[in-house]
Amino acid sequence: MASKLTVNKDRENQYDILLEGDFGALPAALRILGMEGRKAVIVTDDQVGGHYAEQLKESLEGFFSGLFVVTFPAGEPNKNLDTVTAILRSFVEYKLNRHDVVLALGGGVVGDVAGFCAAVYMRGIDVVQIPTSLLAMVDSSIGGKTGVDLDAYKNMVGAFKMPRLVYINTSVLKTLDGRQFASGMAEVMKYGLIMDASFYEWIITHLYEIRERREDCLSEMIEQCCICKQKIVERDPLEKGDRALLNFGHTIGHAIEKFKNFELLHGECVALGSVAAAYISWKKDKLSMDEYYEIRDMFVPFGLPISIEDIDAQEILKLTHSDKKALDEKSIRFVLLKRVGKAYIDTKVTEEEILAGIAEIEYREDNE
Ligand code: GLY
Repeated sequence: MASKLTVNKDRENQYDILLEGDFGALPAALRILGMEGRKAVIVTDDQVGGHYAEQLKESLEGFFSGLFVVTFPAGEPNKNLDTVTAILRSFVEYKLNRHDVVLALGGGVVGDVAGFCAAVYMRGIDVVQIPTSLLAMVDSSIGGKTGVDLDAYKNMVGAFKMPRLVYINTSVLKTLDGRQFASGMAEVMKYGLIMDASFYEWIITHLYEIRERREDCLSEMIEQCCICKQKIVERDPLEKGDRALLNFGHTIGHAIEKFKNFELLHGECVALGSVAAAYISWKKDKLSMDEYYEIRDMFVPFGLPISIEDIDAQEILKLTHSDKKALDEKSIRFVLLKRVGKAYIDTKVTEEEILAGIAEIEYREDNE
């Protein structure tokens, strides 16, 4: 079921999010943007590229005056400035000029890296986001955040670079591995938890269809997430306020991601961070005990972790302070829940409360 949303309608940085079942509608969408006859580079990673770069190229046969593919090794550890330099060198080699186009084909890492390359090459060229992971479809491809990690700091170097188009081909989810799919579900549930209680209920009632990846159901779910994300980024494009609510589960989540050396997927860490944040919300008398346990247990049927072994709570606490968001603030802006569907920012979460949240997700036999 094809559908279209328009972000920033009739304003600066207007772009469409197209939800389609294949790549067939892409040339027409790019034509409307005046991209026919330009040069383009598909930036992808060595996992997604193997599956979809050829298919994408075929669907764009004859559309661009030159179409190239640049591939980098998959994974968060490659989301760095060395990868950016290598990609920018290929742009030069292919003689891209400021009218040419980057097609970001892949998951969150590809979207961030390719988007950043497009933001800085010749002070900015067009980028089209073509997300292939559930996480990228529902979150990272929308709203223009791009960038790479720097040493221990995640997303430390980056730019806001609005895409000209987000093209979601939901059929690629068929080949997405189970862990990656689950990882995306953590971000899907986040929207329900922070801003849309009825969507949260919808997720619960469609649990089986979602797990079976029924196409209609996934399209509806992705569209709903895109609508939530659209609302937030239109209201607060540069994260001066409400957009920070999207960081629910990310403060402790990012810290665990770094502590575990990126062995866990982003969404798995977000699930753990969400459980910890919901626990802190309960302890601060925002959520009831029943609400907390219901939230925690909803991650399980989607294959997401709610506890983790071999962690060092003090180290993780320290890492929450090396989050880039903590650097420009006096205190951590922690996203907590008032109830399902309503998040708020709390700047008064103490170290003890954070440690208690981490203890809650630490796997011990007596803690299960
Ligand atoms: N992924 C969070 C944001 O776009 O703000």
